[in-house]
Amino acid sequence: MKGAAVPATRTVPEETTSCLVLSCSPRAGGNSDTAARLFSRAFDRGREAAPSVGDVPEAGAGAPNRGVRVLFLRDYAVSPCTACDACVQAARELKARRAAVSLRTLADTRPFPCPAAARDDSTTLFGALAAAEQLCLVSPVYWYHLPAQFKALVDRIQVFRSMREYGGLRDDAPKRPCRIILIGGRPRGKRLFAGSLLSLKSALATLNSATVDPLLLYGLDADDALCRDREAAERIDAYGLAAGARPRMEHYEPA
Ligand SMILES: Cc1cc2nc3c(=O)[nH]c(=O)nc-3n(C[C@H](O)[C@H](O)[C@H](O)COP(=O)(O)O)c2cc1C
Repeated sequence: MKGAAVPATRTVPEETTSCLVLSCSPRAGGNSDTAARLFSRAFDRGREAAPSVGDVPEAGAGAPNRGVRVLFLRDYAVSPCTACDACVQAARELKARRAAVSLRTLADTRPFPCPAAARDDSTTLFGALAAAEQLCLVSPVYWYHLPAQFKALVDRIQVFRSMREYGGLRDDAPKRPCRIILIGGRPRGKRLFAGSLLSLKSALATLNSATVDPLLLYGLDADDALCRDREAAERIDAYGLAAGARPRMEHYEPA
């Protein structure tokens, strides 16, 4: 994980993407990156074949739709939440003023005076999530949970939870379907993915994202394991194809 003092330098253009794939392993070129690549290729193929919903406007109408985009979480600085409660305070103040923040604008954290956001890339990452019609999170399992940097990003969703809990959040974001691909080195284990899934489902619900059936892959340990596992690659291909093939904007609700 990059340190808290790393300045925010990375930016993602504010364009609508059909699908944002976030590859969350610290290991470059490993199984998560391979899975992200396989998923995004399949998504594009599925999307080409998909009907578009004629009379429903594209999200961020006017903005170019860039298809699928893959980001690597390790390229971004994410500071840990320190439970400073600045977001709780801000939420209470917003409520007292009967003001509300739109969950549509995940990227705009100005109403949330989060000290961590001022010195890392979380705003950029939340912005990229907000600008996508669908999401796909890909991650290895580390000690029955998520790798540290990914968990840090999940913890930072606390800002939105504070807004929900103490007031000030207008729950008006479209329900983005979110797919999850989790990878473990162990060949079996009933609860291998249970902790990660609990965290992700609850965090994604806070962002008004709906978790679609996750794809859980066992027995992939060496960095090239997925490249050598045809069956796992085919499962990812089918998962990505199905995601891309859904009629576009199916999940979008009118503002
Ligand atoms: C720190 C660490 C912790 C791990 N913990 C687990 C674990 O609890 N269960 C498991 O099945 N695999 C575990 N693994 C193995 C990884 O999940 C596996 O190697 C995976 O393929 C890594 O994905 P990547 O290639 O995308 O980095 C761990 C690996 C590391 C480095």
